[in-house]
Amino acid sequence: MQWSHRRLATNVLVIGTGGAGLRASIELAERGIDVLAVGKRRRHDAHTSLAAGGINAALATTDPEDSWQQHAADTITESYGLADPEVVEVVTRGAARGIEDLERWGMPFARDADGRISQRFFGAHTYRRTAFAGDYTGLEIQRTLVRRAGELHVPVLDTVYVTRILTAHGRVFGAYGFDVTDGTRVTIHADAVILAAGGHTRIWRRTSSRRDENTGDSWRLAVLAGARLRDAELVQFHPSGILEPEEAAGTLVSEAARGEGGILRNALGERYMERYDPQRMELSTRDRVALAGYTEISEGRGTPHGGVYLDVSHLPREQVLERLPRVYRMMLDLQMLDITTTPMEVAPTAHYSMGGVRVAAADHATEVDGLYVIGEAASGLHGANRLGGNSLIELLVYGRITGEAAADFATASDAPRRDAGAVAEAAHEVDRALGLGTPLAADAARQESARRLQREVRDLMSAHAGVVRSEDGLTEGLRRLGEVEGRSGDVVAHPDIAGYDDLAHAFDLQGSLLAARATLESALVRRETRGAHNRSDHPETDRALRVNLVWSPDRGVEAEQVPPVPDEIASLRRDDDSVAGKLVE
Ligand code: FUM
Repeated sequence: MQWSHRRLATNVLVIGTGGAGLRASIELAERGIDVLAVGKRRRHDAHTSLAAGGINAALATTDPEDSWQQHAADTITESYGLADPEVVEVVTRGAARGIEDLERWGMPFARDADGRISQRFFGAHTYRRTAFAGDYTGLEIQRTLVRRAGELHVPVLDTVYVTRILTAHGRVFGAYGFDVTDGTRVTIHADAVILAAGGHTRIWRRTSSRRDENTGDSWRLAVLAGARLRDAELVQFHPSGILEPEEAAGTLVSEAARGEGGILRNALGERYMERYDPQRMELSTRDRVALAGYTEISEGRGTPHGGVYLDVSHLPREQVLERLPRVYRMMLDLQMLDITTTPMEVAPTAHYSMGGVRVAAADHATEVDGLYVIGEAASGLHGANRLGGNSLIELLVYGRITGEAAADFATASDAPRRDAGAVAEAAHEVDRALGLGTPLAADAARQESARRLQREVRDLMSAHAGVVRSEDGLTEGLRRLGEVEGRSGDVVAHPDIAGYDDLAHAFDLQGSLLAARATLESALVRRETRGAHNRSDHPETDRALRVNLVWSPDRGVEAEQVPPVPDEIASLRRDDDSVAGKLVE
């Protein structure tokens, strides 16, 4: 069969049109570089638009004692020593500039009466440094970036699913994929590629990611191009995902609810955070609040639907409507529940990939020439526990820096050599996923559905690699994963009149399988409890494991030392590597 084929060329290709991809594209366009941004869903609806409660920068508008150094120290403390100090410094130093960029482009931040940007508390921050727009912060950032990219006439293709980053002799030369609406094959030649296509939290059953986003596809693209993953096992479970209805289970109730004074209670009416962290209570570290909720539920003090209560009904109604409009509306829409009068039922939900592609601190270059990775797809800032609000600022800071670096790379280096064989191989891979070139009888034997196998991956990851893990569980998870991997060769995509979503699901499944394997194998090696990684069989932190775990399919898991923390920041750190208050059995 002959497919229609579209061929495009640009200086820099950006894969992903969420906040990170758009910020990088804006930087490239402002520098006069030819850029093309591609995404698999409408740019207005990118995952960034779900980010709710806020974005961090030590602006010192609300708490004048704050400084970028204190923000850096808090970030490193909360990472349990695994964040790359240089990445932390770049982000926290550059944060104010990131906010200024947004302000200049018209971002409607919440402001105090005198016009200063308001800042609220998020868990485990020393000072109030989270700027916000109600609890629609990510949506407003995305709108602001879409508008700015439009002003600069950045070309954006919203319907391209990338199946391969093309490389030759260790250097990228573009990407291959297809149009999800009509299956048109797309080859894009580029001098440099920025990958900004999210993380892998959709491989858990209860997750704050929607269907078909954060499936691990970005990790697969990077790894097949020759990059490696770092800290794949470090996944943030947010304490408050909703439980009902089943199809929306895991959808986030923003930490802003606790930041505004929300209280957590178990089914006995106990304010249980008193037992886990009596000082910080609901604003304790995210890993502790999530584990506390998990423990209450698993020890039988959960609510009728298997959660805990999060209550904001004691707050003034106006405060809830003004500062938590999204949570208010969502709970009415999904559960007919009025949060100004009635507590919500919530439970931990897979929320953020703290690990990701291994990148250089200076510019987020990978080990593949010309390939850069940013946003949730990358690693380095968060270590074993991410401070809420740090991901939005990270994508602004590194979006700018990486845009600049890719611009320099694309203009300073010779045009990359192309490899027709690599394009043919990528095309063949898509053909095979569609069952093309397979004898009819063989095709009939290939009856697996990508959706069914994805569900099995999500089930096994939830059962064996959730909030609390163990050697036996992880080993069983790998055994089950092996079975699913075996069956995945029998998946054939069946596009229909509606489009090529089924083909996208087949590739999403491949991404999920790779991400699940990296997560399970790395989690097995991390025989300790550190941050969000709780091992019931290793309940203590092991100082010898204050290392990053780097994963690749051929070399497995390798340990890498974390660089030292500069004195200026180290002196402001709390010594909080302990497991105090975690109550892991
Ligand atoms: O709860 C929240 O609003 C999430 C924020 C974040 O993950 O940074």
